[in-house]
Amino acid sequence: MTPFCSHSRHQPRRLRRHPAMRRMLREYHLSPADFLLPIFLVEGEGIRKEISSMPGVFRHSIDSALRFCGEAAARGISGVLLFGVVDSSRKDPRGSLSWAPEGLVQRAARAIREHHPELLVIADACFCEYTSHGHCGVLDIHGDRDDSATLENLQLQALSYAEAGVDIVAPSGMADGMVMAIREALDSARHENVAVLSYAVKYASAFYGPFREAADSTPGFGNRRGYQMDPANRREAFRELQLDLEEGADMVMVKPAAAYLDIIRDVRERCDFPVLAYQVSGEYSMLQAAAQAGYLDLRDSVMESLLAIRRAGADAIITYYAMEAANWLD
Ligand code: PBG
Repeated sequence: MTPFCSHSRHQPRRLRRHPAMRRMLREYHLSPADFLLPIFLVEGEGIRKEISSMPGVFRHSIDSALRFCGEAAARGISGVLLFGVVDSSRKDPRGSLSWAPEGLVQRAARAIREHHPELLVIADACFCEYTSHGHCGVLDIHGDRDDSATLENLQLQALSYAEAGVDIVAPSGMADGMVMAIREALDSARHENVAVLSYAVKYASAFYGPFREAADSTPGFGNRRGYQMDPANRREAFRELQLDLEEGADMVMVKPAAAYLDIIRDVRERCDFPVLAYQVSGEYSMLQAAAQAGYLDLRDSVMESLLAIRRAGADAIITYYAMEAANWLD
């Protein structure tokens, strides 16, 4: 250690004693603008139904989602990430409902754009909520994902989102070439202003469990390890990152967050583009369950987790706690 950093009489406690001293010297801060709120949409009216695996998170019909968006905007949250949850009778092997001009996400995006223009509207671009088999794209005869067919559909989906007025398309299916396919489709239809947030570094994680119940997107057979990343890999994240940036991603995401703070830090140091992190459903449900059992203080543990994600290097955080955290910051 150099003499400039320390001296024999240094006592760290002197800088921690007074609350104003702690506040003054705090290195990282959270603000409501750092948060993006995921919203699960369902057809119908007046629906606000709690998701059993995620107590405190609801599926909303569009009217209810609009009210929720109003609260999010009032609290200074930057945007919402939309997921459509559709009836299984309307699913098909390609997930074609996902690019219907009058689809759930498309209608919700238009309504949010109209009523809450201050919010960023982000659409998750994937197929698992819409395919009858629950995988993130089209499958070939062996049951493997057919990436080129998937990319064509992804272009249709991204265009339908752009036409509905979304600000950011966020491909989450980990299909090779997905960012370039989306960028090309958007640009050729004069949607140059729509940004692409790539789920560039997305691990095949057990922490998505509660989401799959929430979005009704559990694969009917097999798992997603054929296209999502192996949790044991670090260098692979750099290759994923590089590819997506070369393909034209405007922002990149690391997902999940809590168990991958090292990867968030790595990605932050490797690129100058904005890095987002997704505090996923399993992270939410763990904290929620522990707090309900009385093992943890919810507020303190949520804020500590969010701060850790920020400290690791995330510019913004997608979190089911966006509303609560924004409130607690007041
Ligand atoms: C869709 C998608 C998933 C999540 C976000 N987009 C599920 C998955 O990949 O299985 C997970 C989000 C969460 O767990 O909160 N592909």
